[in-house]
Amino acid sequence: MKVVSSATDLTKVYGRGETRVVALDGVSIAFGRGEFTAIMGPSGSGKSTLMHCMAGLDSITSGSARIGDVELAGLDDRRLTRLRRDRVGFVFQAFNLMPTLNAAENVTLPLDLGGRRPDREWLDRVISTVGLSDRLHHRPAELSGGQQQRLAVARALASRPEIIFADEPTGNLDSRSGAEVLGLLREAVRELDSTVVMVTHDPAAAAHADRVVHLADGRVVDDVRGA
Ligand SMILES: Nc1ncnc2c1ncn2[C@@H]1O[C@H](COP(=O)(O)OP(=O)(O)O)[C@@H](O)[C@H]1O
Ligand SMILES: [Mg+2]
Repeated sequence: MKVVSSATDLTKVYGRGETRVVALDGVSIAFGRGEFTAIMGPSGSGKSTLMHCMAGLDSITSGSARIGDVELAGLDDRRLTRLRRDRVGFVFQAFNLMPTLNAAENVTLPLDLGGRRPDREWLDRVISTVGLSDRLHHRPAELSGGQQQRLAVARALASRPEIIFADEPTGNLDSRSGAEVLGLLREAVRELDSTVVMVTHDPAAAAHADRVVHLADGRVVDDVRGA
């Protein structure tokens, strides 16, 4: 399996002295193309930190984090920004949509910011996969929570990223909308061969994944495929 994202002995320490926190304590893990992984673990176990470090949103203290063959620690801010924009998609618990833009504009915003021409055919496919073809001119406030999160997933997919990191993407949704978004992530993996890494508290959500990784105290304590 082609490795899309990997960490080797990844350590992240916040603060110093009395406020020193070891958020990640030597994590080694790899995510392959077309793999849907759920990350679970108690609050404070390092789930968000792992995603942020592997996605280049946060610096690492020691060890290595790579997207493909690219070592993130070796990149200056400009290169890191470009790598995130071109190769990584994010979905957060709060949808982080732009309220003044309509759905279509929200989806293409990252491409527009990067000065990239959208691949029309791909966008049409993404938008029909997320089931929002008839909502393109609606603003986020005119969409349900589930639709807003599906829109956020479409935005994450728009640039054809190699990997999507989703941090509790169903955390703010009722169970029906949550199931919709999980089904959509599943479909992105199946139809678009995306790689998805998703943090969740919810065992029912994790059941949608191919693989479940458990963290505790900043370490991988369990890693089960085909669960
Ligand atoms: N910006 C930060 N500054 C200091 N400590 C932090 C910061 N972010 C996270 N932490 C600490 O790192 C640990 C892991 O946090 P986090 O990755 O957010 O856990 P999780 O997502 O599993 O709930 C926690 O002890 C948390 O308090
Ligand atoms: Mg978290």
